[in-house]
Amino acid sequence: MDIKKELTEGFSKYFGGSADGARFFFSPGRVNLIGEHTDYNGGHVFPCALTMGSYAIVKKRDDKKIRFVSLNFENAGISESNLDDIQYVKKNGWANYLIGVVWAFAEAGYTIDQGFDLAMWGNIPSGAGLSSSASIEVLMGTILKTMYSIPVDMVAVAKFGQKSENDFCGMNCGIMDQFAVAMGKKDNAIFLDTADLSYEYAPIKLSDAKIMITNSHVKHSLVDSAYNDRRRESTNALKALQTKLSINGLGDLTEDEFEANKSLISDPVELKRAKHAVYENQRTIKAVAALKNNDIESFGKLMNASHVSLRDDYEVSCPEVDKLVEIEWSVPGVIGSRITGGGFGGCTVSIVKNDALENFKKTVLSEYKKACGIDAEIYEAEIGDGARELV
Ligand code: GLA
Repeated sequence: MDIKKELTEGFSKYFGGSADGARFFFSPGRVNLIGEHTDYNGGHVFPCALTMGSYAIVKKRDDKKIRFVSLNFENAGISESNLDDIQYVKKNGWANYLIGVVWAFAEAGYTIDQGFDLAMWGNIPSGAGLSSSASIEVLMGTILKTMYSIPVDMVAVAKFGQKSENDFCGMNCGIMDQFAVAMGKKDNAIFLDTADLSYEYAPIKLSDAKIMITNSHVKHSLVDSAYNDRRRESTNALKALQTKLSINGLGDLTEDEFEANKSLISDPVELKRAKHAVYENQRTIKAVAALKNNDIESFGKLMNASHVSLRDDYEVSCPEVDKLVEIEWSVPGVIGSRITGGGFGGCTVSIVKNDALENFKKTVLSEYKKACGIDAEIYEAEIGDGARELV
């Protein structure tokens, strides 16, 4: 498929007039290898950008209208806002993520004073834990930075994306997704400390294994509100610990420090949430160290432990994904497997030996169908670069 051509035709069809002079942009999705629900707890994460993502062509207008169309949701037609009066309007649907980024730039003093028409299309399955929303937020930020010559770096673009999602769209996400999408690097994962946004790239060179993503095709409702609940519960646990400890986030604690002080948390649910955040952060640090030592087996074991903790302590999995992971664990040649992303459905990420791949695909698809009656979908994760203008 020639994406630029499709977008050019879609642009003319919906907005009328020619797309001559329009510019072409891409922003990836991401998969998180380990470090889940640690990013708003001041912990570490280890995501990588994917080659699948969102594409847009954009052309400036002579007035202050900003208009959006997605070739993925053609029935939704054009969403529209005006630079003089940017507001969250429910019927703008998916476009609110982008409109919120324009708003976030303006809030930071970078006012955009010339409108645009934007046509987009993407191939990230939505609601699957692969950051389709961060992808389109960072796409918008990259477009504004580039086409309006706004002097900000890609970390700032990531932050504007998060602000759009938090304060415009009402989802209290952390910074991981937008950071991974904005700062991604081909064949590398990003080891990010969300406490201070320091990061390093870690090459993912698996000579005899592949990273596989399995979409459970389950999407539970109320994901945003359940996510916001988890965030509140872990913040409450942090506050309880802060009555004695001088820490800024749960990511500041080792397992031993947590065990020695956990009696400060009286609520049993908040205690479980905090335990996950502390142990998951430590698992992430250990996993990256293992990878540096080419110890992929240890990396896999930490992935498995991450799943158990997300299932039992953080309670962000669901029966279908638990079943899927259980099947994946049972396949010979699977080094590790876990739910990835925000949770409550979505995808798993697994590391699978090359010579086990065919059996992995066959067994996972058939056993999952047998157990849950759902067709899963399996993709190989190709790690790509972050958001950018294309020619
Ligand atoms: C979602 C959020 C991220 C992060 C993950 C869980 O993807 O957007 O900020 O919290 O969930 O790790």
